[in-house]
Amino acid sequence: MTSPARRSRATEAFYGRRKGKALKVPQAAALSELLPVLKLDLASPAPKPFAGLWPRPVSAVRLEIGFGGGEHLLHRARSSPDTGFIGIEPFVNSMAKMLGGLESEGLDNIRLYDDDATQVLDWLPDASIDQIDLLYPDPWPKKKHWKRRFVSRVNLDRFARVLKPGGRFCFASDIDTYVNWTLAHIADHPEFEWTARKAADWHEPWQGWPGTRYEAKAIREGRTPCYLEFRRAG
Ligand SMILES: C[S@@+](CC[C@H](N)C(=O)[O-])C[C@H]1O[C@@H](n2cnc3c(N)ncnc32)[C@H](O)[C@@H]1O
Repeated sequence: MTSPARRSRATEAFYGRRKGKALKVPQAAALSELLPVLKLDLASPAPKPFAGLWPRPVSAVRLEIGFGGGEHLLHRARSSPDTGFIGIEPFVNSMAKMLGGLESEGLDNIRLYDDDATQVLDWLPDASIDQIDLLYPDPWPKKKHWKRRFVSRVNLDRFARVLKPGGRFCFASDIDTYVNWTLAHIADHPEFEWTARKAADWHEPWQGWPGTRYEAKAIREGRTPCYLEFRRAG
């Protein structure tokens, strides 16, 4: 249960779409059979040690919020088999696609959650996460909707609590007002610092970056991606 003190973000809920077109039979089967196996059980306390969340030992833990088509999450899980990943995505069709990818590739280092990421953040133990990826979050471009954006003081407080000292928060967006919004929130937050030293640091993606479906669309439509990396104070 979220404490009232934490409930200042306008949403504390998921505003996006939950369902798209009808699922194919194998996708529906994966949702009813595989998702319950991989889904985090927030009704039980997080395991101690936290690395026990995965079927074999992991040396680092990464969280991706709103993985969409899942290209980035699958790529990272494939290239870092000793890292445990948590992927969160409330859109059912995207979750079904992710389950299909996991099954066909046989990856065992991803756990999933299919609702608002704030629920997972409030369940995670203190200092349990090495990196949080928030890649192209819903932009809410109209000013009257900015308060729905995932980046907010209350969510940065959540990030600060769950990140390990020195842990990273990586944010990508193609929407200038969201980039500026995020930089302003970080500047106001005592636990985070922006790691950029030169312009290339926010113009160039992170090492091994596979792109995302939303990013490809933004580039096709003439918008420029921006990559921000923040460090939680150590
Ligand atoms: C613009 S899409 C980007 C998807 C993907 N990261 C990409 O770059 O292609 C934003 C995603 O965030 C998800 N999302 C929105 N609000 C969320 C929340 N509160 N918790 C978790 N995911 C959320 C949406 O369902 C959507 O898939």
